[in-house]
Amino acid sequence: MQKILDLISEEMKKAFEAAGYSADLGKVTLSNRPDLCEYQCNGAMAGAKQYHKAPIMIANEVAEKLQNSEVFAEVSAVAPGFLNLKVKEQFVREYLQAMREDAKFGLQMPEKAKKIMVDYGGPNVAKPLHVGHLRSAIIGESIKRICRYAGHEVIGDIHLGDWGLQMGLIITELQKRQPDLVYFDENFAGEYPEEAPFTISELEEIYPTASAKSKEDAQYKAEAMEATFKLQSGVRGYRALWDHIMSVSVADLKKNYANLNVDFDLWKGESDVQDIIPGMVEDMKKGGYAHESDGALVVDVKEETDTKEVPPCMILKSDGASLYNTTDLATIMDRMESYNPDKLIYLTDKRQELYFVQVFRCARKTGLVKPETELVHIGFGTMNGKDGKPFKTREGGVMRLEMLLKEINEEMYRKIIENKSMSEEEAKETSKIVALSAVKYGDLSNQASKDYIFDIDRFTSFEGDTGPYILYTIVRIKSILNKYKEQGGNLEQSALKDAVNASEKSLMLEISKFNAMMEAAYEEIAPHRICAYIYDLANAFNRFYHETKILTEEDKEKQAGWIALLALTRDILETCIDLLGFSAPERM
Ligand code: ARG
Repeated sequence: MQKILDLISEEMKKAFEAAGYSADLGKVTLSNRPDLCEYQCNGAMAGAKQYHKAPIMIANEVAEKLQNSEVFAEVSAVAPGFLNLKVKEQFVREYLQAMREDAKFGLQMPEKAKKIMVDYGGPNVAKPLHVGHLRSAIIGESIKRICRYAGHEVIGDIHLGDWGLQMGLIITELQKRQPDLVYFDENFAGEYPEEAPFTISELEEIYPTASAKSKEDAQYKAEAMEATFKLQSGVRGYRALWDHIMSVSVADLKKNYANLNVDFDLWKGESDVQDIIPGMVEDMKKGGYAHESDGALVVDVKEETDTKEVPPCMILKSDGASLYNTTDLATIMDRMESYNPDKLIYLTDKRQELYFVQVFRCARKTGLVKPETELVHIGFGTMNGKDGKPFKTREGGVMRLEMLLKEINEEMYRKIIENKSMSEEEAKETSKIVALSAVKYGDLSNQASKDYIFDIDRFTSFEGDTGPYILYTIVRIKSILNKYKEQGGNLEQSALKDAVNASEKSLMLEISKFNAMMEAAYEEIAPHRICAYIYDLANAFNRFYHETKILTEEDKEKQAGWIALLALTRDILETCIDLLGFSAPERM
C-alpha cells in the first residue's frame, strides 16, 4: 500500500499542476502546528521565486483547485503562503480499512527479498553473561524481526566466543583440581565418559578462579596457553573436555536467551571456522594482499580519504597465532560460501567500531565478499547505572545478566501484587512478561549508539514512555474487547466508521503512519522508531479512551465502529511489540 503522506501529496501535486505550477511543489508533510492543522504544504513558498509571484497568491490558487477534493476536508491558504490541511474523515477511514485487510497493515513488500545475516549475542562460552551482552541480544533480536517483517530472509547467528584462552584456562584449572581425570591421561585410547566432569555452576566458578590466578601467576598463565595450544592442535582428551564445556554452557545459554525471548537460527562459533583459516591466509598471501610487518602478517586497509588513522588489519601474530580478526574474516568467508547473503549486520559495543572498519575493508579488499555485499556494523552505547557509570552490582562488581533480570522481576512483582487481586502464581508469570518489556523497551527506545541509564524505577513505571505503559494500554484494549464480547457483541462483524470526534480522528491518523514508520525502521535499522510510534499511538488511544464511553454507547453501529478501531489498535500494538521482542499478558 502507498503511504498516506504519498497519497495526500499526490492529491496536492495534482492541484499545483491544475493551477499551472510544477507538481514537484506539492509535497505534503505532517503539520508542525497540530493545533492548527493535520498536514501542511509549503510548496507555494518555494514556488514564489520560480514563478515571480507572491506565495499567498499561489497558495490561494491551489486551494481553489481543492474545493471538491476527496482527500481534503479543509485547505486554508495562510500568510505568507502556507497551505494548512485537514483530511476527510472518510479518506482516513478508508485508508485504515485497507490497512486492516492487509496482512502487513499496508507495509509494501520488496520486489526481491534480500538475504540478511544478523550476527548478535556473541557470548563467550563458559564466561557468565553480563549486561554488555544484554544489549547485543536485545537490539539484534529486534533487528532480526524487523528485517523479517519487512519481507526479507533473515538468519540470526549467535557467533559464540568458543575458541579462546578461556578454554585453556578452564582445562588447566580442572587439571589442578582433578589430575586423575581420564582426559589428562595421554595413553588413554578408549571412549571418554558421556557425562561432563562438572556442572554449570562449577564451570561458572572455575573460569573466574582460573582467570584471576593467571593474572597473578605467570607460570599458571603459560600452562593455560599451552593447554589452549594443545586443544587447538587437536589433542584428543582436550577436545573431549572442550565438547563437555560446550554442551554444558550452550544448554545454559539457551535457557538464558529463552528467558529473554531471544532465539538464534544458528549456534555457530569461532571454533567452526578454525579449519579454513590456513587456506584463507594462504590466499591472502598469494593474492598479494597480506605482507609481513614486524614478523606479523597484515593487510593494509587505510584509504586516502581517511581523516583518522586506520591501522592495518592483523591476520597472524608473529608467533603464527590467529586473532579475533582472523576468525571474523574466516567467518565472513564461511557465510558467503554457505549462505551467500546480500547483507551482513553485526551488533557489538561501539568500542569495536574501528575494528569492524578494518575487518570490512579487509574482507572487501581480499575479495571475501562481493562488491555489492553490504557490511554493516551497529555499535551500541553503554548501559550505565544511575551514577552515569557502567552498570554494576550493589557491591560494585560486574552485574551478571541473571541477577539483573532477577532484580527487575522482583520489582515488577512487588508493583503487580500491590495493586491487584491476582493469585501469587499469576502475578509471578505476569511480572516476568512485564519485566521483560521494561528491560527491552528501556533499551530499544533509545537510539542504539547512545549510552543510556538503566533506571529500574523509571523502566518499571506504568506511566510515561515505558514498556509497562505500552502493555497496560494493550491490556486495557483487550479488556474492553472482552467485555464487548461478553455483552454479546461480535468483533468480526464490526466495521470501521468515520471519526466523530477529534481524539478519535487523532487516533486514526496515528495508526495510519504505520507503514511509513516500519519502512524507516527497516531502512535505518532502527528499533527506536517503533518505540516512538507505539508511544504516540498508546497516548492517542488513551486520550480517545478517556473521552469516549465505549461500552455504554447506545448507538450500536457507532459502538461497533469504535470496537473495530480498538481491535486494529491492539493488532498493531501487538505486532510492534513482537518486533521489539516482547509480548503482552492477558491482564495486569
Ligand atoms: N564474543 C565477542 C565479545 O564478547 C563478541 C562477538 C561479536 N561478533 C563478532 N562477529 N565479532 O566481545
